[in-house]
Amino acid sequence: MSVSRLGTSAVLRGLGAAVPSRVVTNDELSQRLSTSDEWVRTRTGIAQRHVADAGTATADLAVEAGARALKSAGAGEADAVVCATTSPDRPMPATAPEVAARLGLPNVAAVRVDGGCAGVVYALATGAGLLAAGVAERVLVVGAEIMTRLVDPDDLGTAVLFGDGAGAVVLERGDADQPGAIGPFDLGSDGDLADLLAIPAGGSRRAVDADAIAERANFIHMDGKEVYRQAVRRMVESSRNVLEAAGLTVDDVDRMVGHQANARILDAVGDRLGVPVERRVSNVARYGNTSAASIPLALVDADLRPGELVLLTAFGAGLSWGSTLLTWPDLATS
Ligand code: UT7
Repeated sequence: MSVSRLGTSAVLRGLGAAVPSRVVTNDELSQRLSTSDEWVRTRTGIAQRHVADAGTATADLAVEAGARALKSAGAGEADAVVCATTSPDRPMPATAPEVAARLGLPNVAAVRVDGGCAGVVYALATGAGLLAAGVAERVLVVGAEIMTRLVDPDDLGTAVLFGDGAGAVVLERGDADQPGAIGPFDLGSDGDLADLLAIPAGGSRRAVDADAIAERANFIHMDGKEVYRQAVRRMVESSRNVLEAAGLTVDDVDRMVGHQANARILDAVGDRLGVPVERRVSNVARYGNTSAASIPLALVDADLRPGELVLLTAFGAGLSWGSTLLTWPDLATS
């Protein structure tokens, strides 16, 4: 666990999102999988997810969300791009430089952050770090995923959970007392539990050969029950750490925007922290788990008011987790 006090260096200025137009309902999934709308809603809170068509890649969604975030910030440009994704367009190169170039930002610092479903919190900390290091004056932070490409369409335990989408924010240098101030950050990981949520093949450990394909090792494998337990535990601990680092308590939190993996996980985290139900933001019903995109997509849907203190907390593959605090600014969203 490491807690930073970067709260004085970054302020959020813009927000945008993009989702593919195609919606797949639980009923549609249950036509080819032995599941049901009732099962998926009861166990996860998910009613539908947006699914990209075969011609759309993660960078396409990232560019769309990024352009909207820059517009909402009233800025044409950024001088760094941090792109959180578990589902890059290709294993190499990183998706971020292509996103930057397509947004008309040639030659800027651009890097991919691979923090699983916690990726966007790591990317926000990375963006704040680039500002603090003097690398950039304005950073575009994107969380973008086409998770439906990574799931085994025949695996009941994962095929119903994930969806596609992108969300982006703009960070600029600023002070802790300004609207939009973000931080401190609490980030952590436990690589001993990496196998709980992994794609076994497709990296240097194991190639995607005929055996791997026969074993479906090129898709996400997840121990759902244990991931669930870890997600609740780590998001609660991390949220407490970040509140303590800021000298605040849960009573100061106006809205909790947790990673949208499962409504029951969000409820368990909210219950344990003592965040009242009406302060919890949830849009998992509409999008499913969009991994690194889920928090910015939830920020767009949350109808936040300027001045509200927002707790962001996320958990995912790695295992990785992270939390931060944000004073909501007056934003034009698109
Ligand atoms: O972003 C972080 C990554 N992921 C997560 O946070 C997900 C964490 N885990 C979860 O959300 C839950 O563990 C799941 C939603 C994946 C599963 O819910 P669960 O309550 O843990 O169910 P289960 O895996 O214990 O399965 C219960 C039963 C099993 O049948 P039996 O063995 O009781 O006969 C499963 O085979 O439900 C069956 N099942 C399904 N049935 C219909 C599992 N998946 C499905 C399905 N439709 N999609």
